[in-house]
Amino acid sequence: MRGLFITFEGIEGCGKSTQVKLLAEWLRATGREVLLTREPGGPVISEEIRRVLLNPDTPEMLPETELLLYMASRSQHTGELIIPALESGQDVISDRYYDSTIAYQGAARNIDLEWIKRLTDYATYSLKPDITFLLDISVEESTRRLTERCLDRIEKEKCDFHQKVREGFLTLANSEPERFKVLDGTAPIDVISIAIINETEKYMKRGL
Ligand code: TMP
Repeated sequence: MRGLFITFEGIEGCGKSTQVKLLAEWLRATGREVLLTREPGGPVISEEIRRVLLNPDTPEMLPETELLLYMASRSQHTGELIIPALESGQDVISDRYYDSTIAYQGAARNIDLEWIKRLTDYATYSLKPDITFLLDISVEESTRRLTERCLDRIEKEKCDFHQKVREGFLTLANSEPERFKVLDGTAPIDVISIAIINETEKYMKRGL
């Protein structure tokens, strides 16, 4: 039986990484095999592309280059890691997937959405997540949480950019309410985790 494909999205500092781990722990405790991964990243080639993408010393990167590198990273990730894992019955949880491109490169960088969708279909071999959790926080909250760490190339963007990213995610979630579960990222960690586990269980029961 094919595994579940679950993705997490949100602006910087929204708490995805913590929740990804908690969901993986829960799924494993129920006896399922889980592959935990992230975008940009995953296999060796995609992690190398990640380094190029997030390098804070290359602010000259053009939006076109950025979009194509995210797509290149994604096609290797999906073809080499995600699809084989799902087909072997493992669940896959990814910290970001193609919705991030729609929000960051589409809504915030203003690249044509139809073009992004065509490239996405190509780079993902038409694979779609079963469930996507969007952890929503305000840009002010994100800035407050980020001041504690070193910023990468994208995190260094201005407030206005992150506001567009947030709105991009919320618009996407509205357009696909079946797949997206929007959660308040400022709620306590355990409250968010329980909500995520409940939604995942509900989806699993429906699939039986
Ligand atoms: P992370 O900090 O959540 O690991 O994500 C890396 C950065 O890359 C983050 O700033 C969001 C950005 N990003 C895009 O701009 N487009 C994409 O398609 C993906 C996956 C990430």
